[in-house]
Amino acid sequence: MLSNQQPQLIAVVPAAGVGSRMRSDRPKQYLKIHGITVLEHTVNKLLSHKLIGKVIIAISENDEYFPKLDLARNPDVIRVVGGGERADSVMSALRYVVNHFSTEWVLVHDAARPCFQLSDVDTLIDASFKNHIGGILASPVTDTMKRGDTSGRIEHTIDRRDMWHAFTPQMFKVKLLFNALSGALDSGVSITDEASALEWSGTKPELVKGQTSNIKITQPEDLALAAFYISRDKG
Ligand code: CTP
Ligand code: MG
Repeated sequence: MLSNQQPQLIAVVPAAGVGSRMRSDRPKQYLKIHGITVLEHTVNKLLSHKLIGKVIIAISENDEYFPKLDLARNPDVIRVVGGGERADSVMSALRYVVNHFSTEWVLVHDAARPCFQLSDVDTLIDASFKNHIGGILASPVTDTMKRGDTSGRIEHTIDRRDMWHAFTPQMFKVKLLFNALSGALDSGVSITDEASALEWSGTKPELVKGQTSNIKITQPEDLALAAFYISRDKG
């Protein structure tokens, strides 16, 4: 069980994407749900967790939206400059963590996932403290999986047993993640989540089952679903 004696944790939030698949007039983290931006929903929920003390947000260099938010004046929120790919943005925030904090553990969470459950974060933290490496929130694949060819026809069906959707938060020891991510980026490996960097370095992070409502807002239709989950959880 978690207790108040545990060290404070730091969360890193990559929020420097442009949201091209969302096709809206601004990056999706600045679209509003129930009057506040997706980024505020995400960061406020992270800060409401009793073990998370600071949130480091990676923001694009010429972002005109962030300075207008209350978050920009929150003493528990630190802004760093993001990079060209998600992994570069995470790396930028991790570099800040390594240089300014002695905290052992970090959680990395997408700005575009405002619907995560605090109870799932508890489960992830518990599992990470127990396995000493860390892990990710994830969910077993339920649909039948097909591999397509370039003309959109089915090559074959993939066995879905042991297949998982990878979510965030992903929680790791700061130094382990920093070394794995910088090593993977230096080697030119394609990294789409933190666990990929750990896998590349030969570590096996734990899969921690979380709620499927932890969607990543990606396409226009996702916004209404996120709004539904947020109001359901508030009610
Ligand atoms: N992200 C980031 N820096 C980048 C790219 C993405 O910090 N260079 C962040 C996004 O802001 C988002 C998270 O990583 O919170 C997950 O990425 P994704 O869903 O792919 O967001 P976008 O890259 O913004 O969207 P798209 O791929 O549709 O352009
Ligand atoms: Mg992207």
